[in-house]
Amino acid sequence: MREIPTDILIEVMEDVIEDLHGHVHRVSDLAVDLGAGIGLGNADLDRLALAGILHDVGKIHFDPRILGKPGPLSEDEFELIRRHPEMGFAMTRTRLEPKVAEAILYHHERYDGGGYPFGLEADNIPILSRIVLVSDAFDAMTSVRAYQPALPVDFAVNEIRTNAGTQFDPTVVDIFLEIAAVDRLPLELVS
Ligand SMILES: [Fe+2]
Repeated sequence: MREIPTDILIEVMEDVIEDLHGHVHRVSDLAVDLGAGIGLGNADLDRLALAGILHDVGKIHFDPRILGKPGPLSEDEFELIRRHPEMGFAMTRTRLEPKVAEAILYHHERYDGGGYPFGLEADNIPILSRIVLVSDAFDAMTSVRAYQPALPVDFAVNEIRTNAGTQFDPTVVDIFLEIAAVDRLPLELVS
């Protein structure tokens, strides 16, 4: 079979999901750095790289007018968007290793149990998902979105620090802060 330029396929996915150029690569890169900092082995780092790229693939089913909506979502729209982890899981579970598909399924679970879709808590959430959550949150804050301009890096780092133990796994946050302290966070190049 001929080689296919997968980066282009990823860009197409990003265009369909949201206007998010480079987002999934940054989420993937930071997730791998966080995983390495925690001491995960190579197989898990490979899984993190893939889960970072595909974490929001379930959004591909949604109307771009909802995904790109500048204002707040209605209750119905929000309910629909909250289904994207399960849709991503359904798309990947027969194609990828279970750990990668599960990392996608649980990437909006919060450490304190207040996340979705299941409200899992703490160590019941797979570590790969706890890592993707931190990485995704940081990039969501520091890149331009339909509903917000890019926020300052210091603000985003502080948000993640403040939410350790509630939204985020404190162990993952510790590693995140170490990476932030040496300026190794991947950032969108805003022109
Ligand atoms: Fe997501």
